[in-house]
Amino acid sequence: MMNYNITVAGVGYVGLVTGLALANSGNNVTCCDINEEKIRMLKQGIPPFFEPGLDNLLGSTIMSNLIHFTTDWKSAYSGADIIIIAVSSPSNANGSANLGYIETAMKQIAASISKDCLVVMKSTVPPGTTNALERPLREQVCRRNTSLWVEMASNPEFLAQGTAVYDTIHPSRIVIGCKSDRAESMLKDVYRPFKAPIICMDCASAELTKYASNCFLAVKLSYINEIANICELTGASIHQVTMAMSYDTRIGKEYMKAGIGFGGSCLPKDTRALTYFANEKGYSLQTVQAAVSVNEIQKMKLCYKAEKEIGGFQDKKIAVLGLTFKSGTDDLREAPSLKNISYISSKGGKITAYDPACIDNAKKIVSSNVVLTTDLNKALNMADACFIFTEWDDVRHLKPNDFLKMKKPIVFDGRNLFDSKTMLKNGVLYFSIGN
Ligand code: UDX
Repeated sequence: MMNYNITVAGVGYVGLVTGLALANSGNNVTCCDINEEKIRMLKQGIPPFFEPGLDNLLGSTIMSNLIHFTTDWKSAYSGADIIIIAVSSPSNANGSANLGYIETAMKQIAASISKDCLVVMKSTVPPGTTNALERPLREQVCRRNTSLWVEMASNPEFLAQGTAVYDTIHPSRIVIGCKSDRAESMLKDVYRPFKAPIICMDCASAELTKYASNCFLAVKLSYINEIANICELTGASIHQVTMAMSYDTRIGKEYMKAGIGFGGSCLPKDTRALTYFANEKGYSLQTVQAAVSVNEIQKMKLCYKAEKEIGGFQDKKIAVLGLTFKSGTDDLREAPSLKNISYISSKGGKITAYDPACIDNAKKIVSSNVVLTTDLNKALNMADACFIFTEWDDVRHLKPNDFLKMKKPIVFDGRNLFDSKTMLKNGVLYFSIGN
């Protein structure tokens, strides 16, 4: 196996965990970011965000001396055999992918490359982006030195937050989009130690694979959430229906949990970006558009139901259990909880919100009227109603009795964590999704 000098641009979930994983497989890795605070923390072995297993992985990799952190992009890019671009590609206001960070990184890379180099696009970008960026990169590098080999490849990442370390070390598949045997064999070398299927294709197909996968997941979730809504209209149980569906291997049992709708940094952004991209090409991507619309309605379903059940939110104490878009992360991006909290507050509700991981992040974005706590009891005590928005373990492990400290035990569960009959038997009025 060849070991390479690899520079990773961007120390977010994808860049940092990928950099650590590649250092652990024997490469000499430099992680480069323009955010000085993040780099300062990383040099001290402190992860800049919460992700299970990341602190240990960071500590042990720093000890191996194969990982370096820097803001000095010039030297980070000039010494690399492979540069992996893992900066974010957030949504523009119109839904298209914002490639601003990628363009900045490309300018710095073009100004720095001084040896043969493969530039790998790991950021999620619309099909055709990697090929379009290659020509100006080559031209600029050639102006300085005509004998250098510079090529771009696409290598999307499929890790999920909360399991990012595991997903990167044990990937379901490695997708490589490239044009030459040289690029393909370098990337195969890099990923061979991960013992995952390696699928090679052209760049545009690799780029589209990422969007197609995330949009498929979004469609699957919105579909199952709609079936849950039909369950509620018929007295059927979504748990029973999905369990019985899952025996068909074409359907499977994964990604079938009905709930409060999807959030996070990927599904909302990528559904918007692919829809926009298709529109630009003159194609209306109806299934994905429908998934997005269903999701917007789904996010507010329980809130409107609760408003009716408890006779409005004015001056009521509302317990919110969980703020993040899923458990295992401190990330609040597009979390369904946020829209619910704004609505409840606007209707005069007095919210006490519990979350074990994101209170510092929440302070920056949630209105100061919302009391934030890491104490479940403080949220539940004397509450008029309780919402569950995140499937945190300590929420999952609550007993029906724990809800009896509320003024009136009525629970609106967006994660289907409890059995309604058991709750009712113990004096808790319980509403969930699709039951
Ligand atoms: C997703 C993809 O899973 C990952 O492969 C891709 O690389 C990035 O986007 P992530 O955004 O971290 O990862 O979270 P994911 O676990 O997919 O969950 C997304 C949203 O769907 C969350 O809000 C989650 O709570 C919700 N979800 C997921 C459900 O409501 N039910 C499910 O069965 C699964």
